[in-house]
Amino acid sequence: MCGLMGYAGPSPAAPILLEGLARLEYRGYDSAGLAVLEGDRLRVEKLAGRVSELAARVRGLAWPGRLGIAHTRWATHGEVTEQNAHPHLDCHERIAVITNGIVENWRELRAELEAGGHRFRSETDTEVIAHLAEALAPSLGVAGAVREAAARLRGAYAFLLVHATAPDRLFVARRSAPLVIGVADGAAIAASDVPALLPHTREIVYLGDGESAELWPGGIRLTDAAGRPVARDPVHVPWSAAEAEKGGYAHFMLKEIHEQPRAVADTLVGRLDLSAGRPRLEELPLSEPRISAARRVLLVACGTAWHASLYGAALLEELARVPAAAVLASELRYGHPVLGPDTAVVAVSQSGETADTLAAVRLAREAGSPVLAVCNVMGSQLTRDADATLYTRAGLEVGVASTKAYTTQLAALALIAVEWGVRRGTLPPAEAAAAVEGLAAAPGALAEALRLDGPAADLARQYRFAYNFLYLGRRHNWPTAAEGALKLKEISYIHAEAYPGGEMKHGPIAMIEPTFPTVAVAVEGSVREKMLSNVSEIRARKGPVILLATRGDRDAAAAADHVLELPRVPERFSPLSAVVPLQLFAYHVAVERACDPDRPRNLAKSVTVE
Ligand code: G6P
Repeated sequence: MCGLMGYAGPSPAAPILLEGLARLEYRGYDSAGLAVLEGDRLRVEKLAGRVSELAARVRGLAWPGRLGIAHTRWATHGEVTEQNAHPHLDCHERIAVITNGIVENWRELRAELEAGGHRFRSETDTEVIAHLAEALAPSLGVAGAVREAAARLRGAYAFLLVHATAPDRLFVARRSAPLVIGVADGAAIAASDVPALLPHTREIVYLGDGESAELWPGGIRLTDAAGRPVARDPVHVPWSAAEAEKGGYAHFMLKEIHEQPRAVADTLVGRLDLSAGRPRLEELPLSEPRISAARRVLLVACGTAWHASLYGAALLEELARVPAAAVLASELRYGHPVLGPDTAVVAVSQSGETADTLAAVRLAREAGSPVLAVCNVMGSQLTRDADATLYTRAGLEVGVASTKAYTTQLAALALIAVEWGVRRGTLPPAEAAAAVEGLAAAPGALAEALRLDGPAADLARQYRFAYNFLYLGRRHNWPTAAEGALKLKEISYIHAEAYPGGEMKHGPIAMIEPTFPTVAVAVEGSVREKMLSNVSEIRARKGPVILLATRGDRDAAAAADHVLELPRVPERFSPLSAVVPLQLFAYHVAVERACDPDRPRNLAKSVTVE
């Protein structure tokens, strides 16, 4: 949450910073601001509003300064006002700082600094960093002051700082919140996430936890918390700058929904051995004895990744006959979980930077559990903390509402479950071969499901004024219902609740009436009939039903008000394609209601606060 961008190079900084900021806007978009150094003169512009508004204001200024920092905010402390927008300055307006994350001990630091005569202008936690650096720089120098200030902060944060006395230097530090650095064409760039760096370089240096760095045109120096130099090779990121563009689609979300057949194919490519009838997961050390010997698996995640984990847990139990459960990372970390060498933890995360997921992984490691990451972002913190990583290869996902990250997580978890079933001997060879074929067919089924775009848009027009929605699914498709409901509420702000079909009679049915629509998943398979019974019960109470059914299922078609027909696929892989019309429906409802699906209110793509 919050996007940070910093540039030190040969060109005027402002346009480069603003372009980078636009690529980070998915992280937060309450307010925006930038600070540029021209010699020892610090120039600052900020406002409560979008990056485009800031760009419009700065365009006329033609600042020549070649070093600066810029910020897009997702408010945590203090309302959305210009005063609280970043950058924040010290008393003498020579230091500018921008932050992502939360400084937990800001109150005590502020009281101490105010007692020492510092004057604060905002309600933010960030401002303490500017004043701390102001207090420390005379004795420690700017780099030392940055390190010492970082050491005195509690919480999860990353910050960028410039100081008028060091006009060719950019200072950065991080603890738990993400920060990436690139060096290219005589410039050094720091940002919260890779997309801002892509127009400049694909060689990315990840700043480690507790480290700080000094950047200057064309160079960087990394240091640990004690000020010792750190050597780190860049990671090559296989994404292109074009992935950060909409490519003709009205929104990133729609583009990413349509990218799913390709993305899932990428997840699977080289990982299915069709002739041997089993997965080929060489990069995944399931042979890692600690992982394959586990007697129990906990899948840990937040948000959409938790829905994928629900599916992964069900499939692991079904195919590998190992007890498995999906746990919300924020619940696990504050609970009293039973962890240890016998319990393998599978941490599922698109970004690899979600604060609660990282904290849960730390807890698991401390307890001796082996940790396997299922992650999309190469080199992210999670992949560095885990014992092994299976990359989902979704490519860059910009839309705040996750779509292709989800289906690729489903595919990756299915691969793990099949592989684990083969290794544990619980999945007979014929079934394993059928599973591999079923997975190989998934991208084609996803492509067919995309044809439901038109029907989903029609339904969106019809139901755009509903106040509530119920989503129902069972077994493999209970997570599908949960994910469909999440998509709708995230981007259209319509309340949507998901329930496993069997639980409907234990409460939700009381809400059913003609203005309360239900979306039900009743594709071919073991729970189809049970789902159709649920649908009858709803319709008997005059509740409208949109049903997802397998193409050609006439009984299902007759059972509902509207039917969205999906291709015939093996039941256990049906969630990969069944979620597609639900994503499309949510997207079109949002557009019908004039909501911005790429920038839903109050949300951020990467939740780096706890
Ligand atoms: C936020 C995003 C969700 C995402 C969740 C977990 O809430 O808006 O789309 O599913 O964080 O993120 P992760 O990067 O760990 O998958």
